[in-house]
Amino acid sequence: PKKNTFSPTLIAWFKKIQRPLPWRQDYLPYHVWISEIMLQQTQMDRAVPYFERWMDRFPTIASIADAPEDEILKYWEGLGYYTRARNIRKAALVICAEHGGEFPAEHKAILALPGIGPYTAGAIASLAFGLDVPAIDANVERVYARLFDIDSPIKEKDAKKRVEALSAELLPAGQARDYNQAVMELGALICTPRAPRCESCPVAEHCEARRLDIVAFRPVPGKKKD
Ligand code: ADE
Repeated sequence: PKKNTFSPTLIAWFKKIQRPLPWRQDYLPYHVWISEIMLQQTQMDRAVPYFERWMDRFPTIASIADAPEDEILKYWEGLGYYTRARNIRKAALVICAEHGGEFPAEHKAILALPGIGPYTAGAIASLAFGLDVPAIDANVERVYARLFDIDSPIKEKDAKKRVEALSAELLPAGQARDYNQAVMELGALICTPRAPRCESCPVAEHCEARRLDIVAFRPVPGKKKD
């Protein structure tokens, strides 16, 4: 990709086509956090009504910390992977005990919360706090593997390092919220695992795998299971 035009083109596309989602109305840390946890194993269309019901019942982080665990789990019913809901409760208790009930604003403090790994910490730090940090999930890995023809297995260290270096290099300073979401949105709507819609891709002319006609062979699958 031509590095001077790639990121601005992608961001402009995102601003035009982005889906209106409840947490995109305010980007409150609490809202971004819960949405990202829900979206880890749940499709967007299914997650949105759960998010709305959750926020009706638990409008603040303190209201989670005050609720009995079985009621918290009830609002997760149907989403599966209940460890996610238990970790939300644990994190809410930590936020109330150690951060005065305010979601912490530093990347390291976010990463230290229960249930929050590198991807989710990056998403919250960049979307809610505007910090210039990457947010790399499987969608983002796939997008970069195609754009830059990453030819080593995507779950292995070499590929991960290349994806990290590329996201750091391509992220325009001060625009992490839009840039990170633009890459995610591209992976979700256009650069899909199967049958990607390259004809609608705003950065198709930057895509090395497309130029080589090997989009179907990127990313290279791993032997390891994550
Ligand atoms: N998938 C997970 N988080 C997302 C976000 N913030 N925007 C688009 N897709 C996502």
